[in-house]
Amino acid sequence: MSSLANKHIVLGITGGVAAYKAAELVRLLIKAGAEVQVAMTEGAQQFITTVTMQALSGKPVFTSMWDGGVPNGMPHIELSRNADAIVIAPASADFMAKLLHGRADDLLSALCLARDCPLLIAPAMNKQMWENPATQRNVAQLIRDGITMLGPDSGDQACGETGMGRMLEPEDLLTHINSFFTPKLLNGKRILITAGATQEAIDPVRVITNLSSGKMGLALAQAAVDMGADVTLVHGKVEIPLPHSTRNISAIDAETMYKTVMQHVANQDIFIGVAAVADYSPAQKNTQKIKKSEQTLSLEFNKNKDIIADVASLPNPPFCVGFAAESENLLQYAEQKRIAKKLPLIVANMATQAMGSDDNEVTLLDDVGAHHLPNTSKTETASLVLRHIAQML
Ligand code: C5P
Repeated sequence: MSSLANKHIVLGITGGVAAYKAAELVRLLIKAGAEVQVAMTEGAQQFITTVTMQALSGKPVFTSMWDGGVPNGMPHIELSRNADAIVIAPASADFMAKLLHGRADDLLSALCLARDCPLLIAPAMNKQMWENPATQRNVAQLIRDGITMLGPDSGDQACGETGMGRMLEPEDLLTHINSFFTPKLLNGKRILITAGATQEAIDPVRVITNLSSGKMGLALAQAAVDMGADVTLVHGKVEIPLPHSTRNISAIDAETMYKTVMQHVANQDIFIGVAAVADYSPAQKNTQKIKKSEQTLSLEFNKNKDIIADVASLPNPPFCVGFAAESENLLQYAEQKRIAKKLPLIVANMATQAMGSDDNEVTLLDDVGAHHLPNTSKTETASLVLRHIAQML
């Protein structure tokens, strides 16, 4: 989430049940390195207290135009002066109508009118209110006015109904806000990524797999979206939720993953093979469960085709980036793989350190040499790897 580091965000909260989610959003923004100044409408204070928001943001919360805490006595100008963005979450139907008309009869609406920074709003309302032609007209005009809409989502609502109008969850809002601030270094690039572990069936109930969690591949997919790329994600077994803004295709075994990649590789600019693909698959397809009888069981395996090596050997290949997970001689083995598979770039990491963990420490190997990256989160590693790819391109 490095794009939010040192960003000044004014978080506006308006009156709606979803206001309680704004508390979690503040926490997440601060964890991602942002500084958060909260401003609340009177309605918002019916749902969540300024005390909570002050405790979480570490700053006094502003609620009134007539607040004496701002040195020049003009909070509506002062609060947005240093802001990199104003985020309204939740944004009620009434507040959106106010924004549309340029009203400035409370602190938050005045702040929005007087701003000199982007405005992002996360609508939250009952589905009838959302679907009302008046709201829909307002949404269309607010988008034309350059305001960024974050959601809403569809699902269960506090009023007991189900439909469109739910505010996005705080984690999703954070992803969108982070994406908003990420430089679009890969704008318009088409990227195909494989991620996760393959599972090779022994019989209908048993598989051979590995410890890959898919975290590195999914972090790369999200970071690529944030940088403006169009991402197709071919994934095996993964332990965390898939990103929303990528084209996700499940491919559970090595053979299916090979076929899926070959089906989608045409016209891709970049191919990143992060998946831990099984090198061998059981030679025999057992359609019935193998019964326990002998003291030992032998299985025969066939070698699988190497997806990335075959992609890199296509007549007009995308820019291919491989991953090498090793348990010894990391750089030597990784470089051998890079040469053997004809890859312009390979990311070397220790299997014992990388598999399943949230952090990673990698070295990038290309024609120029080795570039060591610090030990950091996979999210941060993903963004550094993609910056290096963007530079190479
Ligand atoms: O040879 P090794 O499996 O260690 O190479 C790892 C790299 O090759 C990774 O980028 C992985 O996604 C890719 N790979 C592949 N198809 C295979 C095996 C590995 O694309 N069958």
